[in-house]
Amino acid sequence: MTLTDIEIGVLGGGSMGQEIISFLTNRKIKNANLVSIFDKDQNRLDNLSKILPANIFITNSIDKFLSVGKIRLVVESASAEAVKQYGSLILNSNKNLVVMSSGVFNDINFLNSLENIAEKKSLQLLIPSGAVGGIDSIKAIKDQIKKISITTTKSPKSLMGALGFKEYENVVFKKEQIIFKGNSQQAIKLFPANVNVSTTLSLVGIGPQKTDVTIICDPNINENKHEICVEGAFGQLNFSMNLHPSKKNPKTSSLAIFSVIEKIRTFCNPHISIGT
Ligand SMILES: NC(=O)c1ccc[n+]([C@@H]2O[C@H](COP(=O)([O-])OP(=O)(O)OC[C@H]3O[C@@H](n4cnc5c(N)ncnc54)[C@H](O)[C@@H]3O)[C@@H](O)[C@H]2O)c1
Repeated sequence: MTLTDIEIGVLGGGSMGQEIISFLTNRKIKNANLVSIFDKDQNRLDNLSKILPANIFITNSIDKFLSVGKIRLVVESASAEAVKQYGSLILNSNKNLVVMSSGVFNDINFLNSLENIAEKKSLQLLIPSGAVGGIDSIKAIKDQIKKISITTTKSPKSLMGALGFKEYENVVFKKEQIIFKGNSQQAIKLFPANVNVSTTLSLVGIGPQKTDVTIICDPNINENKHEICVEGAFGQLNFSMNLHPSKKNPKTSSLAIFSVIEKIRTFCNPHISIGT
């Protein structure tokens, strides 16, 4: 550890959390020092404590988690519920907050309430791009957007467990099929773990109600695909992503993990900023 190290806490030690923890413990991010991990799942914590250095505090108590050392940044990789439960407490404890479960911000009032705390306390609420690209350009032209849509294609395995997939769980898909068409606000209720990307897109763009979402189930793909189309006075933007799912959790694309790692890197090394 150096004098400039930024102490970090990770909320959620699941598949994404474990990848973040691995980056941090292997010192792959300059100036970043993982000091504390919080998860509600004691089995998960027991497994983590077997493989992690003893100086990292591992707990199922939010208060103990937040009181370790001088944490400046909490990285959430848990669930929308966890952000609702602990988001304001974390900010009120003077910690900056990275939120991966961005779907929670379909509730714009909740987003505003966290932003207000961050503003009062001179902290940052950070929402990484996650599993999509193009966020920087969309943010830049948001006032000119007339139409924005995202089409997400996933395998049945990636969609399994979602409320909106319940009626399809025993269906043997032979070819691709549209299983949802609506806006981002409706999509996140039915596919909360699958379409954080549509919320992130809607937050930088023109809001959850005006962001069109289509979800396709394709039995013949192993990748997660996202196609984003944006139209307006500036012209047209099209972004297409074919992403390998994380080996540990097929619902998560590995790009989402690299996106949060980059966000932590920028927070810890803010002396140069490239991109919007
Ligand atoms: N923004 C994006 O592009 C993007 C991409 C992938 C995943 N995500 C989101 O990131 C989050 C983590 O994903 P994952 O694949 O690691 O999930 P996961 O299920 O593998 O792990 C989540 C972990 O968080 C813990 N947890 C959940 N709720 C908690 C709570 N209220 N209090 C304490 N611990 C809690 C669980 O016990 C679990 O260990 C999910 O919400 C997921 O939807 C976002």
